[in-house]
Amino acid sequence: MLVIADETEKVLEELELTQKQFWNVARETGNFLNMLVKMNNVQNALEIGTSNGYSGIWLGLGLKQTGGRLTTIEFYEKRQTIALENFKRCKVDDIITSKIGDAGTILEYLKDDDKFDFVFIDASKPQYLDYFKLVKPHLVKGGIICADNVTSHAEKVKPFLDAVFADNDFQSEILPLPAGLSVSYKLV
Ligand SMILES: C[S@@+](CC[C@H](N)C(=O)[O-])C[C@H]1O[C@@H](n2cnc3c(N)ncnc32)[C@H](O)[C@@H]1O
Repeated sequence: MLVIADETEKVLEELELTQKQFWNVARETGNFLNMLVKMNNVQNALEIGTSNGYSGIWLGLGLKQTGGRLTTIEFYEKRQTIALENFKRCKVDDIITSKIGDAGTILEYLKDDDKFDFVFIDASKPQYLDYFKLVKPHLVKGGIICADNVTSHAEKVKPFLDAVFADNDFQSEILPLPAGLSVSYKLV
């Protein structure tokens, strides 16, 4: 069983009380993302959709063990401020870079040599396909793209799912976690 420090557990449980209000992933999904980061020894992770930092904490805890870093994007300043406070309380703030702004625009302006080995998509559902297209050139071989809400918001994310499942550069599956999580592995 994963042992979580008391103060961090307190923050996670506190955030779970407002899970719906802040659109956070389920605890099971957070735990799985944390495992995936460790199983793949992720070094450079990107999260699209920070909210109050709940999933970022799970990712950050995994990255603390791998020695990796997380960049996370949010366009509401109020949520970013809360997330930064939560990252600090869970002592993952030193490995997290928080970017404020529209994810599509931020991704568009990534440098050619900005590379990620893990991407978690959890922002605007109709824009999942755009995020995928923009992030694909920055994902290394063996990298992973996860996307939440692929069953809870199936219609809205269909263009993304269709594209990633049809893409020969990826091997993909949908996991039956609470909102449905797609996991795509970059083969080339
Ligand atoms: C589902 S919530 C993220 C939840 C978070 N991953 C978690 O589980 O704790 C989606 C977040 O993405 C943000 N968002 C939506 N569209 C965005 C965009 N185009 N650019 C940046 N952030 C966006 C929303 O403000 C919201 O806070």
